[in-house]
Amino acid sequence: MVNQLLRLRGICVCLLSLLSFASLAIEPILPVPLEHGLDERRVALGDRLFHDPRISPDGVRACTQCHDLGEGGDDGNKLSEASTNRLFLINSPTLFNVSLNYHLAWRGAFKSLDTHKRKTFLRSNGVDYSPEAVVERISGDDYYPAAFAEAYADGLIFDNLVDALVTFERSLITPNARFDQYLRGDVGAISSDEKHGYDLFKSYGCVSCHQGVNVGGNLFQRLGIFADPFKKKGRVITKADQGRFLVTGDDDDMHVFRVPSLRNVALTAPYLHDGSQKTLEDAIKAMAKAQLGEKLPDRDVKLIAKFLRTLTGEYKGESMERETSVLGDSATSPRNDG
Ligand code: HEC
Ligand code: HEC
Repeated sequence: MVNQLLRLRGICVCLLSLLSFASLAIEPILPVPLEHGLDERRVALGDRLFHDPRISPDGVRACTQCHDLGEGGDDGNKLSEASTNRLFLINSPTLFNVSLNYHLAWRGAFKSLDTHKRKTFLRSNGVDYSPEAVVERISGDDYYPAAFAEAYADGLIFDNLVDALVTFERSLITPNARFDQYLRGDVGAISSDEKHGYDLFKSYGCVSCHQGVNVGGNLFQRLGIFADPFKKKGRVITKADQGRFLVTGDDDDMHVFRVPSLRNVALTAPYLHDGSQKTLEDAIKAMAKAQLGEKLPDRDVKLIAKFLRTLTGEYKGESMERETSVLGDSATSPRNDG
């Protein structure tokens, strides 16, 4: 009898774990791969180039100035100084997990990291410069010629410089966020409040736009489906606000943006293409209003923010979760609202 009961219990436990596995398996969010599997010599080269101002047209601004990997991969400013034309100013996006986005930049102007590099860094701030000029600037260096010769059969040429940068960008994945640990079956990796926040994220419908491995990055959607986010006193609509319309010229694409990834979103304030939302809570409220026509109770906003903070992953094996972001709501205050 006891044996039979034990067996029965065994079957139940087995069924339950199968069920929980099945329910985790059909989650709309997938974990970031644990390894990038890239050639480490090329990653190291790209890393060096990424921090080297000499490859920029003006020779003074390294990529890291606007994509600071110690600060969530963006620059913490409301609007970045990437353009000299005020009307095109836009918030600098994080480069973490950028290879998991299907189109690049807020309006999806580029289809691959390779085209993005070729188009942007040979023409920046209206200044054109040639591939030869970029290579020339670093060819007298102690490090690059030898390192390129080791990593590429044809050494230091422009194509390989682009490839090294792209390889580095691909290496910027942030696996093992607490939420990913949960997705992989460690149900204790997130608290009950964080789980509740996730349930709200799904039930309110945030997940209809922010899903997949990058919790976004795989769809274009209009900003302001239910409420006009630009309708504020003194707010002038800029070119940057026009979104994908600037790429396609199609009226249906007015104010359409690539849905941003929400991975590491706790680290990338201020939010939205115009940096108009200072804290994560502000962004959640604005989203609910503009995209879902909902006014969320404060309690739900806080719970969703708690869930979003579990999306902070690891870079180079170290958690990027800041102590404060685990402890309290003050963690969402932006570094600088520019
Ligand atoms: C002066 C600031 C600035 C500098 C310097 C800069 N970027 Fe950016 N970067 C931006 C801004 C702003 C955007 C968004 C542009 C847009 O959407 O129109 C962006 C977008 C990107 C994207 C697309 C990200 C995505 O999620 O789609 C990549 C990739 C990128 N930058 C890589 C680089 C690399 C590599 C360098 C150095 C060669 C660099 N950036 C230098 C400001 C900068
Ligand atoms: C209909 C699609 C859609 C829905 C639904 C939606 N979003 Fe968004 N989300 C977007 C788009 C598009 C943007 C970028 C808009 C912009 O910056 O101009 C965005 C941006 C964000 C950002 C800012 C990210 C950043 O890096 O700046 C956060 C945070 C966010 N959404 C959270 C949510 C939450 C929470 C919900 C549910 C309450 C939600 N979203 C529902 C499409 C959607």
